[in-house]
Amino acid sequence: MKILGIETSCDETAAAVVEDGRVILSNVISSQVEIHRRYGGIVPEVASRQHMLSIIPTIESALSDAKIQPEQLSAIAVTHGPGLAGSLLVGVNVAKALALSWGLPCIGVNHLEAHIYANWLAHDIPVFPLLSLIVSGGHTELVLVKGHGEITRLGRTRDDAAGEAFDKVARALGLGYPGGPAIERACKGVAPTRRLPRAWIKGSDDFSFSGLKTAVVRLAEKLNISHTSNPDPVALGLAASFQEAVVDVLVNKTVAAASKYGAKQILLAGGVAANRLLRETMVKRATVPVLIPEPVLCTDNAAMVASCGYFHLLKGERSGWDLDVIPGLKLGASPK
Ligand code: KG4
Ligand code: ZN
Repeated sequence: MKILGIETSCDETAAAVVEDGRVILSNVISSQVEIHRRYGGIVPEVASRQHMLSIIPTIESALSDAKIQPEQLSAIAVTHGPGLAGSLLVGVNVAKALALSWGLPCIGVNHLEAHIYANWLAHDIPVFPLLSLIVSGGHTELVLVKGHGEITRLGRTRDDAAGEAFDKVARALGLGYPGGPAIERACKGVAPTRRLPRAWIKGSDDFSFSGLKTAVVRLAEKLNISHTSNPDPVALGLAASFQEAVVDVLVNKTVAAASKYGAKQILLAGGVAANRLLRETMVKRATVPVLIPEPVLCTDNAAMVASCGYFHLLKGERSGWDLDVIPGLKLGASPK
């Protein structure tokens, strides 16, 4: 079963063809990062207009890279939330129009669940029940997955997402955009210089990163770190201390939850899972196997959407022509 995946929830226009949920035949990502860099962050209207320009060429490339014709496809899977409304609308409308004209079923996919499925594209088949930490620019979620589509949300961030904190701290320290990769690059070989606060939120699987972010922003002001000049060693030490603190909290809480809920594996997902310190520390401290997609499958892509859609289609699910975007779409039921 070959599925065309379409992803336009944020600032990447992406299309991919995946066979049987696991084999990537093509994976095309048209990034808007250079366009948003000049604003220091994503501008929603600019993002949706850019999706309008890129979506058809991106889908054409995905089909031609996979060397297949539309009639060889079995279905179209598209992200319908969560994300930016104007961005999601482009992908969902194109997906429905193509599905109608090609006579294919169409299925709406949850972007956060799709991030987890990047792990089905990369390794031996993951084993349930598993715990997944989804860390992206907009979300930090800890979920227990007992089977395809059987997801319970254990914890989430109460304020800033981990990626959002990376982006804001990088801006305060003058390290560039997007902040996660910029901090990782700048901190290579730099030792942390301070012990920064960690929000453990005892007795809960939730996270909080705004206190840590604010502590770094205040220190940057106090230490007179410039936003524009080349980073000085003080800024780099501070960035490394920040990265260490975020990773420490993410890893400790995930490892503890894995043992509390009897998970057989830990699956990392989302853009922040591309972070090397997080990847290495999770593997070091976990007591069960840790699966992590390669960095290009951690950040937004459409192969993960196609894979997630496949497993839902196998269960007999499909969307109607009334498929709509849900910018605030949640993942998983809350624990009882
Ligand atoms: O999953 P993603 O591509 O898009 C969303 O769904 O949000 O995640 C983007 C986020 C951004 O905040 C970016 O700074 C962060 O992931 N990120 C990283 C790294 N690469 C991307 N954070 C830390 N280290 C990285 N190497
Ligand atoms: Zn994402």
